Amino acid sequence: MKIIAIANQKGGVGKTTTAVNLAAALAEKGVRTLLVDLDPQANASSALGCLTEEGGSLYSCLVGADFAAAKVRETRLPRLWCIPSHMELAGSEVSLARNENHLVRLSEVLEPLRVLNRWDVCLLDCPPSLGILMTSALASADGLLIPIQCEYYGLEGLAKIVDLHERICAAGVNPHVTIEGILMTMYDGRTNLSRLVVDEVRRVFEDLVYKTIIPRNVALSEAPSHELTVMEYSPNSPGARAYREAAAEFIRRQPQAMGDPVPPVPSTSELSTAPTAQVPSGPLSAAPAPVAAPSAAPATISPPVSPLPDAWQVGSPAPAPARPDPTSVPPNPFGAPFNPDV
Ligand SMILES: Nc1ncnc2c1ncn2[C@@H]1O[C@H](COP(=O)(O)OP(=O)(O)OP(=O)(O)O)[C@@H](O)[C@H]1O
Ligand SMILES: [Mg+2]
Repeated sequence: MKIIAIANQKGGVGKTTTAVNLAAALAEKGVRTLLVDLDPQANASSALGCLTEEGGSLYSCLVGADFAAAKVRETRLPRLWCIPSHMELAGSEVSLARNENHLVRLSEVLEPLRVLNRWDVCLLDCPPSLGILMTSALASADGLLIPIQCEYYGLEGLAKIVDLHERICAAGVNPHVTIEGILMTMYDGRTNLSRLVVDEVRRVFEDLVYKTIIPRNVALSEAPSHELTVMEYSPNSPGARAYREAAAEFIRRQPQAMGDPVPPVPSTSELSTAPTAQVPSGPLSAAPAPVAAPSAAPATISPPVSPLPDAWQVGSPAPAPARPDPTSVPPNPFGAPFNPDV
């Protein structure tokens, strides 16, 4: 069982929407999926119709009074299970802080689930903070999936979570956790801003960024109010198709086969015309465009010169973005005033 933390300390970027709908799409593709709701807001539990009474969350497990397996609930969807959350989980921030081993406690709680071998993937829906629950999720995960909203402040949030990932690795708490991917969410094809943000994230993080882009889609925002995943609420909506595509990409990115066989990676032209991904053509596409696509020939292209704000310069995955060179920096797309609606 591979544990993936879906995390970003920034609120409202699409963590829960991603956790719920990626989980549903993975299950649809034959992957045995367990979604663990670590957010006391319990939004993921609600979307899966798994709201629980007090005592149903991982809280009692974290304080040593129960086992995680006892908290697993079936959902309406085949191959999808859930460990729900409850407000009580907020108390674990305080209870865990008292323990010396608080960072690895969640890892200890989840370990027996790995041994059970009943699930292929476990997704952790993290709360929006840098608190103990979120840090513990990174300390217990094999991979980190970072949803970021296609807007300017999304960039700053990304820098912080990447920095936290590096600290967790460097501190030896969980040296093996990797960044599984960065998923761009709430893409609005009508604005330049969305495209600029995707461009910047792709230029710095290259192949870590999912080719699939989640569009802003009303079905995705309406589905939770009916306590449904988007696969159930509007299975042919752009949002449902995008999360299916994200699930297929997730599976392709795994070193070991998972779920039912999925089609091969779509070609660039397919991607740039795909109605679900809504990836604009040109510099945004994954095409091996000159200069703008270092992933096309990573061995020969020098690290990108980053025009990003200093907030970006904390920690970085390989290859690290270079510090801006004032003599060669191209015009900063975010430095100049811009009109996002142009
Ligand atoms: N692609 C999308 N299109 C339209 N609305 C979206 C999309 N993704 C998320 N939303 C809506 O945006 C809001 C925030 O999404 P979500 O709850 O998934 O974010 P979050 O990061 O989990 O938030 P929090 O930090 O509070 O846990 C919700 O109302 C959700 O329905
Ligand atoms: Mg959430």
